[in-house]
Amino acid sequence: MIRTKPFRLGILGSGKGSNMVAIADAIAAGQIPAEIVVVISDVEGAGILERARERNLSAEFIPPGKFRTKLDDDAEQAFVKRLTEAQVDLIVLAGFMRILKGEFLRAFANRVVNIHPSLLPAFPGLEAWKQALDYGVKVTGCTVHFVDQGIDSGPILGQETVPVLADDTAATLHERVQQAERRLYPQVVRALAEGRVTVKGRQTVCRAGAGE
Ligand code: GAR
Repeated sequence: MIRTKPFRLGILGSGKGSNMVAIADAIAAGQIPAEIVVVISDVEGAGILERARERNLSAEFIPPGKFRTKLDDDAEQAFVKRLTEAQVDLIVLAGFMRILKGEFLRAFANRVVNIHPSLLPAFPGLEAWKQALDYGVKVTGCTVHFVDQGIDSGPILGQETVPVLADDTAATLHERVQQAERRLYPQVVRALAEGRVTVKGRQTVCRAGAGE
């Protein structure tokens, strides 16, 4: 089916925003038929908001409330309200460091994706590249997946592998994983925007796009 309206992305992040930048640059280069309609952070002054404003994107801080690892009820409602008003087709978590559950996921069922810095299901949770290094794996990578009620557990949309080198530190491995993220996330968002992804239970199938 050919879409007549542009595919609308809402991007959520807490950090420096390199994944958001990679997606915005791919859109600007005509590689993703989508527009970023809003960028929201739970961290005032986060790099992702500055990077968004430099690109003339709508960028907003919404206070997360009293908890450290999730949004409180008022904050969750504020996020849902803003994203609903913005009529987003897809919510792209790009380093958003709070767990989304309940009302948020019901409001945007099957429309929230996340990037995680390991080859899931290995090393869910925080500092996954460091977990991989400490464990001693020889290959790690990154994963884009749908967000469900669990932690880093939804159906997998795409993965890219990254070798772990003998002299890697957490910092060098993290940088290599992030380079892979900046390749993978735009590709997956493009496939979703082009309507090439079908989901059957835990399996996702992505048809090849033009020029692939
Ligand atoms: C990315 O490496 C992403 O995988 C990670 O946060 C970083 C954000 O970087 N996300 C998680 O760990 C989520 N569990 P960025 O702000 O430069 O895009």
